[in-house]
Amino acid sequence: MAISDYQQVLDEITAEIQPLLGQGKVADYIPALAKEDASQFSIAIHTVDGRTFCAGDCSKRFTIQSVSKVMTLTLALQRYGDELWQRVGKEPSGTAFNSLTQLEFEKGIPRNPFINAGAIVTCDALYSRLSAPMHSMLETFRQLAGNKTIVIDKRVASSEYEFRHRNAAMAHLMKSFNNFDNEVDDVLWAYFNFCAIELNCVELAKAYNFLANKGIDHTSGKEVLTSLQNKQLNSLLFTSGLYDAAGDFGYRVGMPGKSGVSGTILAVLPNKFTVAVCSPGLNSFGNSVAGIAALELLSKKLDFSIF
Ligand code: DON
Repeated sequence: MAISDYQQVLDEITAEIQPLLGQGKVADYIPALAKEDASQFSIAIHTVDGRTFCAGDCSKRFTIQSVSKVMTLTLALQRYGDELWQRVGKEPSGTAFNSLTQLEFEKGIPRNPFINAGAIVTCDALYSRLSAPMHSMLETFRQLAGNKTIVIDKRVASSEYEFRHRNAAMAHLMKSFNNFDNEVDDVLWAYFNFCAIELNCVELAKAYNFLANKGIDHTSGKEVLTSLQNKQLNSLLFTSGLYDAAGDFGYRVGMPGKSGVSGTILAVLPNKFTVAVCSPGLNSFGNSVAGIAALELLSKKLDFSIF
């Protein structure tokens, strides 16, 4: 398919998913997110040669929630390389993103960096190496997305912090196994601020475009990850990016992906593009109903997948 047809495909998908809008449930365990309208929808593609296509409400920003875990891992890999894997595993968890039980059996080493425990321990590692973690993370997104107006929604971060008990339990459990170095509440505040960074789909697809481009940000030409690290990160996204629904997502979409409870999903088609979709109605796994359907349609219509 010619690149110019991407816009037509996104427009078709937006029309076809209309019956799904409003289905699913908006995440309400974070009170500030519960107010979102489940019927919102936007989808954007950013290609490795710098073209952008978008349909739906392209300017609407959403907090990126767990999609931030991909950047947390990226910044940690830049600083620790393979040493990081002593503190977090690489295996799919087969459990919900906020499950606690596995962490006890596996002695405080989370299965992978995308479940909450894994992202929080990666955040702890990053916290030890950055003097201003929130500033560094925000600046990373601003530079990669090419927009200095990107901000953190402090209302969402504070709301998550107030209801942090489950994530705090994970962090304390990891501390009891000597797998946590900093103060739990300091690291959680950073983690919630990362989750509360607000991007629209165009900015999200652009910020993560290095994942489709062998680790290189095509705008600046800078290496964000080595091509080996980039391949490894994409592999982990494929096996664990959608938690206990990673198999179903891989089967339906055929691309590495990462979801967040705001209804955001990022997917990567190596050497071609990144695609970001957002619609807040979630299924029982915490993934966007319309978002997954839209990515499945995209993969079918373009006949693209990593396989
Ligand atoms: O830790 C939390 O609960 C959220 N800030 C992030 C969770 C999330 O997005 C899980 N993704 N599906």
